[in-house]
Amino acid sequence: MIHIRRFADVAHRQDVRTAIDSIFFDNAATHHFADADSRRHYHDLWLQRYLRHFPESSLVAMNEDGPGEIVGYLAGSLVSDRPPLPGPDYYRLFPDYFIDKFPAHIHVNVRKDSHNKGIGRMLIDAFRLHCRDRRAPGFHAVTRSNRCPAHFFTRCGMDIQSRVLWHESQIVFIAEEIIIP
Ligand SMILES: CC(C)(COP(=O)(O)OP(=O)(O)OC[C@H]1O[C@@H](n2cnc3c(N)ncnc32)[C@H](O)[C@@H]1OP(=O)(O)O)[C@@H](O)C(=O)NCCC(=O)NCCS
Repeated sequence: MIHIRRFADVAHRQDVRTAIDSIFFDNAATHHFADADSRRHYHDLWLQRYLRHFPESSLVAMNEDGPGEIVGYLAGSLVSDRPPLPGPDYYRLFPDYFIDKFPAHIHVNVRKDSHNKGIGRMLIDAFRLHCRDRRAPGFHAVTRSNRCPAHFFTRCGMDIQSRVLWHESQIVFIAEEIIIP
């Protein structure tokens, strides 16, 4: 059975981090790096700094039938584009209302052999509850439109807000408002 846990709560955090890194690099849009520094920067920009600064907002999907293997993660934060999370530089392309309305930010990754089993949806559902608990008014994701996950996010209840050109690629801004009771 798959369980979603906060990264802040997992035991053996270094082993979990290694499993998350492996999913990250396996699914990454880029596989070639000029040098070790650029690889480190890429890893930090898209993953590591979320785990470091916001372990309570980052989630892992664990298959607890076996020894507790990691099959996916969501790197998240309730704030965007301010210290300790400045950038990436597509923030200037967001619609004016975007960050105020949907301040929380997510990156989702599921291990390749576990795609299409509902794990990505479980991670989004858990993050939605986390936002509701913390009274965050909304969350957003950014994805390239030449990869398919925009459809994944809309199937999970999010809406496409805009499409823009960023470094010669089309990217999509997708978001969801949180209904706070
Ligand atoms: C995108 C990703 C997170 C989806 O996770 P998943 O666990 O395979 O997705 P789920 O099984 O929870 O699917 C939920 C819904 O999204 C749809 N979906 C999932 N991946 C999809 C894709 N690549 N293209 C189109 N639709 C997709 C599913 O068919 C399902 O639809 P349904 O409601 O009609 O049943 C996973 O494929 C992945 O990690 N991809 C590589 C990394 C990535 O692109 N991350 C997103 C950018 S931050």
